Order: sequence, then C-alpha cells, then structure tokens
Amino acid sequence: MKDAFLGKIVDHSAVVAVVGLGYVGLPLALRFAECGFKVVGIDTDAERVAQLARGETYIERYGRDRIKGVLKKTFFPTTAFSEISGVDAILICVPTPLGPKREPDLSYVRAAADAMLPYLHSGQLISLESTTYPGTTEEEIVPRVKSKNLIPGKNIFVCFSPEREDPGNEKFPTHAIPKVLGGTTAACLEAGQALYGAAIERVVAVSSTRTAEMVKLLENVHRAVNIGLANEMKIICDAMGIDVHEVIRAAATKPFGFVPYWPGPGLGGHCIPIDPFYLAWKARAYGVHTRFIELAGEINSNMPHWVLRQPLPRPRRCLQEKRRRPARVTGAGADAAARGRGRDDRVQRPARARDPPPGARRGSGAQRSSERGAAAQAGRGVGGYGSRFI
Ligand SMILES: NC(=O)c1ccc[n+]([C@@H]2O[C@H](COP(=O)([O-])OP(=O)(O)OC[C@H]3O[C@@H](n4cnc5c(N)ncnc54)[C@H](O)[C@@H]3O)[C@@H](O)[C@H]2O)c1
Repeated sequence: MKDAFLGKIVDHSAVVAVVGLGYVGLPLALRFAECGFKVVGIDTDAERVAQLARGETYIERYGRDRIKGVLKKTFFPTTAFSEISGVDAILICVPTPLGPKREPDLSYVRAAADAMLPYLHSGQLISLESTTYPGTTEEEIVPRVKSKNLIPGKNIFVCFSPEREDPGNEKFPTHAIPKVLGGTTAACLEAGQALYGAAIERVVAVSSTRTAEMVKLLENVHRAVNIGLANEMKIICDAMGIDVHEVIRAAATKPFGFVPYWPGPGLGGHCIPIDPFYLAWKARAYGVHTRFIELAGEINSNMPHWVLRQPLPRPRRCLQEKRRRPARVTGAGADAAARGRGRDDRVQRPARARDPPPGARRGSGAQRSSERGAAAQAGRGVGGYGSRFI
C-alpha cells in the first residue's frame, strides 16, 4: 500500500486534493500544480471556485498569471467533494476560528471531513493543515477514517502538517518555508514526507501529529507573548519619557539572545489573536492555566484603547510634523500597506509599530495621530483580542 503511494509521488501520477482554497490552500494547490501534480481544488464557496475557473483570482498576490498557468492543465477547481474518490492525497486547509466564548470552532474541519468521508478509500493520504490544538487529528480525523474501516498506517495515511504561509511575504514563498509534519504512524509519516518533499524544499518530521499541532501553536504563542511584552514596554517607556523604538533598535544590536518585537495598537493576522486560545482551551482540559497566553491577550487587547486614550497633539504641531516628513501609519494598516500593497486579503497584520525614522521625536503629532488612526482601525475591525480578524 505504502509503496504504491510512494511510487505515485515519484512518477508524479499522484492526484492531490486541496480542500479550502483560501490564503493557505490556494498557494499550496498552485505549488503542487506547478510541480506537475494534478490538483483538484475543492471549496464550498461557489463564487470563489467560479472565479478560479475563469482564471481570475480573489487573492491579488496569487495572481491571474499563476492561476492561468496551471488552470485546466494541472489545476481543477470545483465544489464537488465527489472528486475525492479520484485523488491520492487530501490536504485540508479550512478555517479554524474561535467561537463566541473564545473556544475553538472546529465546525469547518468537521464539515470538510464529513463531506469527504463517503469518497474516502484505501491507499489515500489525509493531511490536516488547519491550525488547531494538539489532539485534533487523533480526535476528529482518525475516528472518521476508522468508521470507514480504514486503518491509519495500514490502508490509509493520516498526518498533520501546520501551514506557515505568510501571505505577501515574497522572501518566503510556499516552497521555501520548511514544512513540519507529524504522522499517525511511522508509515503515515513516511508517506507524508514523500508527498510534501515533492513540492516543499524541506520537511521537518516530528514524532506525532500532536507534536506537529503543538509546534504551530508554540510559534504563534511566542509571537503573541513577545508582542505583549513590547506593548507593555511601550506603555512603561511612554510613562518615563523614553522612546521605546530607540530602546528596541538599540537592544536589537545585540548579536545574540535578543529578538526585536515592536509595539502597536493592531494585533492581527489569522493566527496571533486566535491560535493561543486554542492552546489555552485545550490546556484547561488538562488542568493547566496558561498564564502567559492570558496576560499577553489582556495587554494586546488593551493597546487600541491605550492609544486612543493618549492626548491628541495640537493641530498646528501635527501639521508641522506632517510637513517635515511623510505621514506614517503604524500597526495594522501600515503593515498591510507595506507588505500587501493592498488589502485584498482583509487580514489585519500583527501589531508591529513601524520604526520611526532616526531622529523622529517620540510621540510626535504625526506619529500619535497615525497610531490613533491605526488603533481606531484595529478597534473597529477586531472587537478585541480573540476575535477573528477577517
Ligand atoms: N492566512 C494565514 O496567514 C494562515 C497562516 C497559517 C495558518 N493558517 C491557518 O490555515 C487555515 C486556513 O486559513 P486561511 O487563511 O486559508 O482561511 P481562508 O478563510 O482564507 O480560506 C478558507 C477557505 O476554506 C473554504 N471552506 C470553508 N469551509 C469549507 C469546507 N467545509 N469545505 C471546503 N472548503 C471550505 C472557504 O470558502 C475559504 O475559501 C486556518 O486554520 C488558519 O488558522 C492561516
């Protein structure tokens, strides 16, 4: 069984289904299609599928040229889950938002898994890519597969491989981002390594699906906590009349042991405001209270309010500042503008106040105004830490 699967990877006859063609699924589907695999892209959003089928795109940075380059050659978008019966590998990239009480909402994962169930058969590989808490693959995917008398490692392969896509980051396209991978069994891992290895430069194997699930959460908790620290430093520095950006810039000259994170009112992306709560929720089931996560959440969610509480600069001074240098936008808006060159993705970028130019005065009129603008934007769009920002 495994050898047959591996053989199809080697000769590129394996057919890959990507379920969920959003910011994660679409580039992944295009990558496999560009590597010469036949890819069936399945999405429940008929309008998105129709757009792709016309060679159009709803994510500007994954442009028409890329889609047209593979469309009807190796890339076939559809809403039909029945296509699953003809594929060898299924990569699930559906949303994992939070519910109203900041609890994990796995309804999309469950809906996708249920929809594909009638069409599953032996010899296939299923890899969940959606960000989620440790245990999801074991608890949600494996039992469904087993209900079809398919046994992971024996006649089907089940993996988890967290997506690390950074939409718009041209330095790290899909294939250049190392792919962490855990398998339900050793055979599942081997099959997954072969599949991803055919399209991604480096596959990082870990010992289980739960470990792979935790890797992604650690990455995002790490960011959330450090952004929280940077935000607290900003408040402390402001109270003391110190320029926090100057402090961070100078600290970042240390060649080891310091990673700069920048304060700002916006906290966003798909991951940072959501994923830590997946871990917090699961940890509670083990009787563990995730203090760092809660504290970072509290500090970060208060930043828009803190910025809005800062006194407005006198209009004249603000104007003078504006004449002296172009207005800067900090945080969410700036990041999106700088990186996305447009906001087709509706993604609030994580909080990263842009570095003011050397010599810029702390809390200058323009800077304060722009921080308030970004704060208002963040506040409007998000409704606090823990909301889904798209
Ligand atoms: N966007 C990022 O930067 C990023 C980065 C890393 C990880 N992730 C994670 O990847 C996962 C997907 O995120 P995304 O940003 O691509 O989401 P998205 O909202 O951009 O896209 C999800 C797509 O899935 C489709 N969909 C929803 N339910 C479906 C179903 N039952 N069957 C088939 N298609 C369905 C939607 O129509 C949509 O096109 C999430 O778990 C997210 O946390 C996102």
